Amino acid sequence: MEPYTDKVVEHFKNPRNVGEIEDADGIGHIGSEVCGDIMDLYIKVKNNVLVDVKYKTYGCGAAIASGSMLTELIKGKTIDDVLKVTNKRVVEALGGLPGPKVHCSVLAEDALKSALNDYYLKTTGKGLPGFKPRSEHSHDEK
Ligand code: FES
Repeated sequence: MEPYTDKVVEHFKNPRNVGEIEDADGIGHIGSEVCGDIMDLYIKVKNNVLVDVKYKTYGCGAAIASGSMLTELIKGKTIDDVLKVTNKRVVEALGGLPGPKVHCSVLAEDALKSALNDYYLKTTGKGLPGFKPRSEHSHDEK
């Protein structure tokens, strides 16, 4: 049985908003504590709206699909709206993920929080209130 929904397969094969933003206002860089995969998220903010978003992942198919769906959920949205986007929203929008792959959507949520934290640090000098990354980029040290 195919473990992935059509939506996941479609986003995996044809991911949206892949790449980098050179003059990004916030950059998230996060590694999954579960599998060590990495996701980077770049955001461009104008008048409190995420006018552009790009992501890159060195991760599995579910991470590619989660990052792609995340960018679709947050692009063009206000920071207030974007703050409400959780990994659960990403999973729902993908029509579900197999249990062992839910952490891949957490990587996407953490990349978003990390990018917003970076944006807040740069603009206000203070990080995103309540931001505590569940994962850090800890690749080779264990
Ligand atoms: Fe690592 Fe999916 S297995 S992000």
